[in-house]
Amino acid sequence: MKWLGILGLVALSECLVMIPLTKMKTMRETLREKSLLTNFLERNTGNRSQNRAYYPKMTFHPLRNYLDLAYVGNISIGTPPQQFKVLFDTGSGDLWVPSIYCYSRPCRTHKLYNPHTSTTFRLWGQPVDLIYGSGRIIGFLSYDTVRIGKLIDMGQPFVLSKAQYGMEHAPFDGILGLGYPSLATQGTTPIFDTLKRRSLIPQAVFAFYLSSRKENGSVLMLGGVDHRYHKGKLQWIPVSQTHYWQITMNRVTVNGVAFGCSRGCQAIVDTGTSFLVGPSRVVTALRRLIGARLVDNEYTVSCSYVPRLPTIIFSINGNNYPVPPQAYIRKSLRGICLSSLAGGTEYLSRSETWILGDVFLRLYFSVYDRRNNRVGLAPAV
Ligand SMILES: *[C@@H]1O[C@H](CO)[C@@H](O)[C@H](O)[C@H]1NC(C)=O
Ligand SMILES: *[C@@H]1O[C@H](CO)[C@@H](O)[C@H](O)[C@H]1NC(C)=O
Ligand SMILES: *[C@@H]1O[C@H](CO)[C@@H](O)[C@H](O)[C@H]1NC(C)=O
Repeated sequence: MKWLGILGLVALSECLVMIPLTKMKTMRETLREKSLLTNFLERNTGNRSQNRAYYPKMTFHPLRNYLDLAYVGNISIGTPPQQFKVLFDTGSGDLWVPSIYCYSRPCRTHKLYNPHTSTTFRLWGQPVDLIYGSGRIIGFLSYDTVRIGKLIDMGQPFVLSKAQYGMEHAPFDGILGLGYPSLATQGTTPIFDTLKRRSLIPQAVFAFYLSSRKENGSVLMLGGVDHRYHKGKLQWIPVSQTHYWQITMNRVTVNGVAFGCSRGCQAIVDTGTSFLVGPSRVVTALRRLIGARLVDNEYTVSCSYVPRLPTIIFSINGNNYPVPPQAYIRKSLRGICLSSLAGGTEYLSRSETWILGDVFLRLYFSVYDRRNNRVGLAPAV
């Protein structure tokens, strides 16, 4: 049964003989329904010279900002489509959603995928254990059609959860990983790689614009970059290890003084992490410097004091990326000012590593270029 996993747009032209006629018919119907058949046939007969109208366009996928803590978008899985809210996460590689086989607490409050009502579901069955900073998912692999807006990805491997620990109150049902394939469960192809390989997107790039303090307006661009979302020129930074979106950082300075990363370090650009995360030792020193006090498990500062706090400057590839206090301090719903700096990267890697999460990415529009293995950063509009 495993060959079913390669069902899909490109597989269709490569493995035509392997697909029974009835299957072919269904696929044709599905494609025609979506007015994609001509598009697909054009693209796969190699005549795209003057057919700009047939050339795939970049996709703008809206994201909703939940209190500056998570950016969540809709996808659907199955036929007919079952809709899920997912976290688009550059810091992981797998796609998972809760399933009807899950009886854990987090599954009571989230949308559950039901394979029985999807005509395109195909069981793989391989068990999977996914560990995130904020929880753990135990499940098994399967295939189904995944839609991100108008993009249709047939036979995409994904994980159906059987048990979930943590993320109970998450504003999303599942997570869609946008990391390199080595970050995904072995033997599976991440969604972006499928879109890229099947030429469903014009370029092997994606980009995030994360809005501040407003629910609407954030966007994930797939297959291109809309330069109206940033100011100045994009600065390209080579990816230092093609696993996470990892880059080399020169130093971190506060008030003109090196604060960690003094001999260079690594930084992971991660839309799935809300905060700025560094080595505990350095973050503890930073909290002390800004006078943050632990109240109810959160580091708080007096709101009136925020304008006087220092800016943290991240130097990357010869450019400075300042993060002012208004960005690394957030106001809770109760009006309390909390630090959005967290420690703990020493558990991730032996060498000094920082995670540039949403705190950083709201300030800097980010582009992820798989063709040239580089990250682009520029001040967001
Ligand atoms: C390719 O497309 C052009 C423009 O649409 C058309 O004139 C030409 O006949 C096509 N060639 C083939 C081989 O289909
Ligand atoms: C997701 O879908 C729901 C309902 O279908 C819609 O109300 C919501 O605005 C969508 N979210 C985004 C971020 O587009
Ligand atoms: C966000 O957009 C939705 C519809 O797309 C609208 O109903 C809502 O009022 C908007 N929210 C804000 C804060 O603008």
